[in-house]
Amino acid sequence: MNLFKKTIVFPAVFLCIGSGLPAQSASRHMLQLDMNSTGIKIQPTMYGVFFEDINQAADGGLYAELIKNRSFEFNEPLMGWKQPKTQYQSENPDSGYATVFSNPDKTNHNYVRISVNNDKVYQLVNEGFRGIGIRKEAYYDFSGILSKGEGNISAVKAELLDENNKVVSSAVIEIKDSGWHKYSAVMKASETVEKGKLRLTFTGKGTLMMDMISLFPQDTWKGRKGGLRKDLVQKLYDLEPGFIRFPGGCIVEGRTLANRYQWKKTIGDVADRELIINRWNTEFAHRSSPDYFQTFGLGFMEYFQLAEDLGAAPLPILSCGMACQFNTGELAGLEELDPYVQDALDLIEFANGDPAATKWGKLRAELGHPEPFHLKFIGVGNEQWGPDYIDRYAIFEQAIHSKYPEISIVSGSGPYSDGEYFEYGWKELKKLNPQLIDEHYYKSPQWFLENAARYDGYSRSGPKVFAGEYAAHSGSGNYGSKRNNWEAALSEAAFMTGLERNADVVCMSSYAPLFAHIDNWQWAPDLIWFNNLQSYATPSYYVQQLFSLNKGTDLLRIRENGKAMIGQQKLYASAVKDMLKKEVIIKIVNVDDQDKEAEIIADHLAVGKKMSKTVLTALKPDQTNTFGQENIVPKEYGEPIKKRKIFTAIPAKSLVILKMKYR
Ligand code: AHR
Repeated sequence: MNLFKKTIVFPAVFLCIGSGLPAQSASRHMLQLDMNSTGIKIQPTMYGVFFEDINQAADGGLYAELIKNRSFEFNEPLMGWKQPKTQYQSENPDSGYATVFSNPDKTNHNYVRISVNNDKVYQLVNEGFRGIGIRKEAYYDFSGILSKGEGNISAVKAELLDENNKVVSSAVIEIKDSGWHKYSAVMKASETVEKGKLRLTFTGKGTLMMDMISLFPQDTWKGRKGGLRKDLVQKLYDLEPGFIRFPGGCIVEGRTLANRYQWKKTIGDVADRELIINRWNTEFAHRSSPDYFQTFGLGFMEYFQLAEDLGAAPLPILSCGMACQFNTGELAGLEELDPYVQDALDLIEFANGDPAATKWGKLRAELGHPEPFHLKFIGVGNEQWGPDYIDRYAIFEQAIHSKYPEISIVSGSGPYSDGEYFEYGWKELKKLNPQLIDEHYYKSPQWFLENAARYDGYSRSGPKVFAGEYAAHSGSGNYGSKRNNWEAALSEAAFMTGLERNADVVCMSSYAPLFAHIDNWQWAPDLIWFNNLQSYATPSYYVQQLFSLNKGTDLLRIRENGKAMIGQQKLYASAVKDMLKKEVIIKIVNVDDQDKEAEIIADHLAVGKKMSKTVLTALKPDQTNTFGQENIVPKEYGEPIKKRKIFTAIPAKSLVILKMKYR
């Protein structure tokens, strides 16, 4: 996969960059690069991703199921389903109806009974997740678990419709006998439709019981049946993430403990995974999403598989017995904590345990993955704060490390970047020797620029930092994808030079949130936006990608006038060596609205005749990318190195990556 769109012809605006000649007005900066190793390794986990089911990221997003409320389990069991009246039906109002039945003893409680009085007239229509995305010439697997009742219903016709109810695909399932059976058919679409529907009609009269009505594209990631949406996983893959943190975020905690994420309920047959309301469903009145549920089709087995596919270390986060403190703050008493702790211990065994000798390892093998998932990290709680968290963390820590001393535990410093809760969390956690402390900050671009030195003063002997959720929030208000503008991304790039410069303290970092559906988002900005057919990468995505793909293996020092570059003269920089590829990589961020010239001065940098230069910039700070129009993308150039001098232009408001061989 070609990651960057390579420019062959240099556009006029980049003429001075491409040729290496400085623009006349640019100020000159002499940057000293120290080729002696700092002894600081860049961890393979330095740049990762954080996946949470927010903004329709799982159902209707990464999880490629196209039918909303496929098992009639939503609080309103027919939500997402309509029984439109045809002209014939209005004349014959009794032509059919749907009734929901419920069995409280099962995890998949509900099924629907269709009563059909007029052959081929009654219709049941599913609207999908804000519509169903259908691609011309693509194949779809339609299925349902059905049981014939009274009468003579002999067939179900499934049709995919466009926005005007024109049929673009059709398949018929013959119903053979009574009893619950899975029926399936392959459908091929004749048109591309962004907001299609599925319509079911019935041949004969009588009753038919239905459950798990499902439609999947065949073209999923790695072609897996019932799998993940290919373009979205590809975007993650192209980031080469060092880790994937999942499944949240606040959905780990739940608004109440009953609504928390419980991994054991998310594995095994998808039909038996008991769904719950997604906490983002009602979190924000201004972005209410009453049809937002978690079916757990994307469950822990799928998360581990995804991590393996991406070559990323899995980092599951578990509830520590505290519901979201912004909501109820419901607490499991210390004497009630055992099941929560046991979930953590069992999860480690599920991921790593011997498939023959351990209960949970055996289950993993039965689910199709006898090899271990090589879990090394586990998170205890998400954004908890105060003494209740410390008490619970201590119990988890003791239990996990007495059985699995090799596992690194990620603890949390709460939702704020500083202040009372943050200070208290750090002070108390340090006493418990955690390996990693997670920090979260959603702040203005100015804050990110001013905090590039945030970690310079952190203790080198204490816990390591996981910058687990961060994003620059440009402007205020609620204007969705527009918040993912260049101003925000550039400030994140400047800040990230500070993460990298402190790679001996910061071992993991991830932007948040990761995904957002353009018609059903609750939180913005987000790294990747998608609709039912397409997705696009934001400028922040490309910043993340440039750092991740150029993380190197060893930190170098780069300075101007003997000082780390943390915004003096509006320049930020970090540098690394890649010992395997024998490359030096320098990242320079110019937040000024003036071009700059940089001369790199280094002893023992035996450079060749050319270097690669990748530039990410935009015409205006409020510029964004959008569907089919990614204006802000990295552009890679080759630049000559003349007389062993590295001399190059750093355009106004840009991130520049210089890469050259060393001997
Ligand atoms: O990323 C969105 C939310 O921000 C996360 O769920 C939570 O951890 C933080 O408050």
